[in-house]
Amino acid sequence: MRAWKCVTWGGPSQLELGNMPDPEPGEGQVEITVKACGVNFADLLLISGRYTVRPELPFVPGTEVAGRITRVGPGVEAFKVGAKVAAFVKHGGYADKVVAPLPQVISIAESIPAPEAAAFPVSYGSAELALERAGLAAGEVVVIGGAAGAVGTACIELAKQRDAIVVACVGDSAKEKVALACGADHIVSSRSRHLHRDIQDVVTAGVDVIIDPIGGGFFEESLRVLRYAGRVVVLGFASGKIPSLRLNQLLVKHQSIIGSSLGLTCVKNPELMSTKWSRLAEMLEAGQIRPRISHTRPFTDLPAALQMLKDRKVAGRIVLS
Ligand SMILES: NC(=O)c1ccc[n+]([C@@H]2O[C@H](COP(=O)([O-])OP(=O)(O)OC[C@H]3O[C@@H](n4cnc5c(N)ncnc54)[C@H](OP(=O)(O)O)[C@@H]3O)[C@@H](O)[C@H]2O)c1
Repeated sequence: MRAWKCVTWGGPSQLELGNMPDPEPGEGQVEITVKACGVNFADLLLISGRYTVRPELPFVPGTEVAGRITRVGPGVEAFKVGAKVAAFVKHGGYADKVVAPLPQVISIAESIPAPEAAAFPVSYGSAELALERAGLAAGEVVVIGGAAGAVGTACIELAKQRDAIVVACVGDSAKEKVALACGADHIVSSRSRHLHRDIQDVVTAGVDVIIDPIGGGFFEESLRVLRYAGRVVVLGFASGKIPSLRLNQLLVKHQSIIGSSLGLTCVKNPELMSTKWSRLAEMLEAGQIRPRISHTRPFTDLPAALQMLKDRKVAGRIVLS
């Protein structure tokens, strides 16, 4: 099969397209013939060797796919060959075939196009988990960093489903349009040097929840407008800067900082994610959520697609199909 291989730690241009043997589905796993795969920010970290896990070189990156099941491993009864599915995998997605463990395989309705199905598992899975970790309630104000990104757009849609008031932080006017189309109530610029004042201008009483996939200045600025009993959910550090904090700040305002990890939750509590993905797939079929696809590119364009993500030129998800 064809596969993109990471043979040395580095950037998108160092990935190599080549051939390798088909993977073997083990106990409780299925083989998926990939029709489309989502291009993720975390892939940039993974291939650079700066991610929380470092697979042994060489490896195939790629964490979310859509396609059809072509083989099932021993003990698999929940899915049959031919089923249309999406899946979250540790890596291996940028290939013609990939194997996935059952709890991370999601049944997808025939009516959903493959690129939409591929843009769905990571963004909505992470967003749903993050909002649950925050305990976001109706009427609360949530500030979402990287709001026009793949995880950000999913956060906006799911926060609106919870009847929250959404302040979307985005980098340019094209991204502003995307965030508004997802349902954001207010927009602030991520390029502003006075982000906390801009947030205060639109929600004068302060903020209940911050969803932070960015770190760095976004964390520091948004924390200044978090009110009594507010919660920050730390999702990632797209800025490349991991912030630190003096804990007395949390004590005096009775606040919490909460980590949220999709990958580790799949390992430690696979039933939780499996249940959430089934529910999210129903919402996808019913048209209650809609993954934003910025570009659909051929499989051979992976390095260019990753470079666009690195350059902050993507609103929603790029999909290879
Ligand atoms: N913890 C989890 O379970 C989990 C799961 C999935 C993803 N993540 C993390 O969440 C983050 C977002 O993922 P994604 O797939 O949504 O990525 P994405 O689509 O590329 O969106 C990331 C957003 O971050 C902003 N950004 C990018 N580079 C930046 C920089 N150098 N400085 C400041 N802002 C920057 C951009 O927003 P603007 O240009 O509009 O400001 C961009 O839209 C990543 O860090 C990823 O690793 C975490």
